[in-house]
Amino acid sequence: MTIVPVELGERRYEVSIGEGARHLLAGAVASTVPGARRAVVVTQPGIGVTVDPGLPLERLTVPDGEDAKSLSVVESLCRGFSRAGLSRSDVVIAVGGGVVTDLAGFAAASFHRGTPYINVATTLLGQVDAAIGGKTGVNIPEGKNLVGAFWQPKAVLCDTEVLATLPPREWASGCGEMAKYAFLSSGPNQAPDGSLLELPLVDQVARCVAIKAEVVASDEREGDRRMLLNYGHTLAHALEASALEPGAGWDLRHGEAVAVGLVFAAKLARQLGRIDEERVELHRRVVGSFDLSPALPPGADPERLISFMARDKKAHQDLTFVLDGPAGVEVVHGIDAADVVATLAEMKESEAGSRS
Ligand SMILES: NC(=O)c1ccc[n+]([C@@H]2O[C@H](COP(=O)([O-])OP(=O)(O)OC[C@H]3O[C@@H](n4cnc5c(N)ncnc54)[C@H](O)[C@@H]3O)[C@@H](O)[C@H]2O)c1
Ligand SMILES: [Zn+2]
Repeated sequence: MTIVPVELGERRYEVSIGEGARHLLAGAVASTVPGARRAVVVTQPGIGVTVDPGLPLERLTVPDGEDAKSLSVVESLCRGFSRAGLSRSDVVIAVGGGVVTDLAGFAAASFHRGTPYINVATTLLGQVDAAIGGKTGVNIPEGKNLVGAFWQPKAVLCDTEVLATLPPREWASGCGEMAKYAFLSSGPNQAPDGSLLELPLVDQVARCVAIKAEVVASDEREGDRRMLLNYGHTLAHALEASALEPGAGWDLRHGEAVAVGLVFAAKLARQLGRIDEERVELHRRVVGSFDLSPALPPGADPERLISFMARDKKAHQDLTFVLDGPAGVEVVHGIDAADVVATLAEMKESEAGSRS
């Protein structure tokens, strides 16, 4: 078992990564929430991963899909917690991907103004990203993840065994997030580490977790440093929001959107003279090596994308992007909308054939 700590002082916790990590749950509950007398397990009907928290438990299910990340589902969870007699010294166990951990984490953050929770991450995307770092929340029609809280889990279990049942598209989606880490390093001023792609799965997950843990520990509440984890995400969130609009007729999984966003960010960086074509090609290659498409979906409208990007909460002044450059990936404020428009137009043109 590989253990990666998230060093947050009194909120420190450990991420356990490996085959069978879910079986560590009872021990994790006993050591991190010693006063708990009962547990509520939050999961989805299709997941089929059973866990034993070592306590009397109630099981609540939430619906599948991004639409489930809503305030009304948070309300039903909190009502379920209440009916189960959950107190503030008990524990919520989220068993699922990012939808479940974002929802259960936010419900736990809100219930009794803060109830402990533990994540058992069952998707690749959850294991390398969503289950770690304490960002919890839900969507509203105006945008993704606009309502939420920072609420750190007491422990995270990343059981690579349960990934065997993951549908291929969910696997690809996790790969999009993993591709992001290939361009991030585990410390300031370190070169990106291309060797990520060559590692065995458990080590790939552990490497991504270590990068995320280090960034979160240095900047828990998202100043510029933690924003690095949003590499590729400004366009990705806009694509996801566009896809949710009535009549869009296309959809992208989160990591699929991140893959497009990474290539877009590289092209924008080139447009701004920060990197050269070779570096853009590296982005395309990394995304391609994970079997992901760099192309904008044919139905995506650049005008709509820009308006969503301007609304994205990370773009509080002007347009803000996380961009590659001579010193590696960094946050760049005050980007001219004209450069974004030009890059989107160029992308629509040049990557057009590459989405199958
Ligand atoms: N909080 C954060 O820091 C953070 C970071 C990245 C992403 N996210 C959020 O995560 C969400 C996406 O998460 P996701 O990609 O894990 O998707 P998801 O949670 O929707 O899971 C994908 C699908 O796989 C199913 N599934 C889960 N585990 C399975 C298993 N072991 N076997 C078979 N099927 C399984 C789920 O039921 C679902 O249908 C987005 O809402 C995104 O905003 C949050
Ligand atoms: Zn992401």
